[in-house]
Amino acid sequence: MKHKQTIVITGASSGIGKATAIYFAQQGWNVAATMRNTGNAGYFAAHPSIALFTLDVTDQESIKSALAQIMHKFSDIDVLYNNAGYALAGAFEATTDEQVRKQFETNLFGVMNVTRAFLPHFRSRKKGIILNTTSSGGILTFPLYSIYNSTKWALEGFMEALQFEVKSFNIHIKNIEPGSVKSEFTDNISFVSNADYDNYANSVQYNTLAGYKNAPTPDVVAKVVFKAATDNRSKLRYPATSQAKSAFFFRWLLPLKVFNKMVSVPVEKEIKTN
Ligand SMILES: NC(=O)c1ccc[n+]([C@@H]2O[C@H](COP(=O)([O-])OP(=O)(O)OC[C@H]3O[C@@H](n4cnc5c(N)ncnc54)[C@H](OP(=O)(O)O)[C@@H]3O)[C@@H](O)[C@H]2O)c1
Repeated sequence: MKHKQTIVITGASSGIGKATAIYFAQQGWNVAATMRNTGNAGYFAAHPSIALFTLDVTDQESIKSALAQIMHKFSDIDVLYNNAGYALAGAFEATTDEQVRKQFETNLFGVMNVTRAFLPHFRSRKKGIILNTTSSGGILTFPLYSIYNSTKWALEGFMEALQFEVKSFNIHIKNIEPGSVKSEFTDNISFVSNADYDNYANSVQYNTLAGYKNAPTPDVVAKVVFKAATDNRSKLRYPATSQAKSAFFFRWLLPLKVFNKMVSVPVEKEIKTN
C-alpha cells in the first residue's frame, strides 16, 4: 500500500493555510492543521484526514507540544509548511519598537522556531521538505510595507542560506511567493498612522487595498504548494500567482528605478472619490 503522506501547516485557520489543508486532504494526504485557536475550525469537519493542533509560532512550548501530539497521531511527517503571518503596514515613523518586534516574532522568528523544532525529525528520517509562504514582497518592496517587506526579505535570505546545510540530510527548502491573494490577510493588516504622513499613507493604503479586487483566491496558491511538495525538484522559489510571476519578470528586466516607479505610481495616485 502506498504510504499516506503527512503535511503540517501553520496558520491553517484561514486564507492560504486553510485552503492548502483542504487541498492536500482532497489529494489523499494526512493534514496536521495547526492554529492558535482550534475552537472555531468546524469548517474542517467534512475532512476526516485533517487533524487540528494548537500552535502559536511565537510560543516555543506550544510548538514543542504540537510536534509531540502530531507525532503521536501520525508517527511521521513528510512536509512542514510555514505559512502563518500577517502584515504591519503604515509609515515606519508611526511604528513602535514593540509593533516592529511583534511583526518579526511572527513572520521571521516564528518560522525559525518551528523549523528548528522540526529539523531533528527530518534529519532522523533522512528526508523532508520545508515549505514557506514568503511573498512577492520578499523579493520586491511596496510603499508603506517597509517592516513587512523586511521580514519577508529576511525569510527569503534565511531559507536560501539554510538550504546549504540541510541538503546532505535530503531536506529540501521551497519558498512559495504569492502576489495579492483574497484572504483574511487584508482584514488582519495592522495599520499604523502618523498625522504627518496621513495624506500620503491613507491614499496609498486605499489604492493598495483596491488592487485586491481582482486578486485570486487562496486555492490558487494551495495548488502551487502541492506542486512544490510533490514535484521532486530541487528548486527554491515558486512564484504562486500570475501577478507575482509578471512582477518578478519585470523586476528582472528593468532597472530598479524604473521598476519601482511601476510599483509605486498606481498606488501613489490620488484617490478618486466617486
Ligand atoms: N493574502 C496575500 O495577499 C498574501 C500575499 C503574499 C504573502 N502572504 C502571506 O501568506 C501567509 C498566509 O496569509 P493569508 O493570506 O492566508 O492571510 P490570513 O487569512 O490572515 O491567514 C494568516 C494566518 O496566520 C495565522 N497567524 C498569525 N499569527 C500567528 C501566530 N503567531 N501563530 C500561528 N498562526 C498565526 C492566522 O491565525 P489566526 O486566525 O489565529 O489569526 C491565520 O491562520 C502569510 O505569511 C502572509 O504574509 C499573503
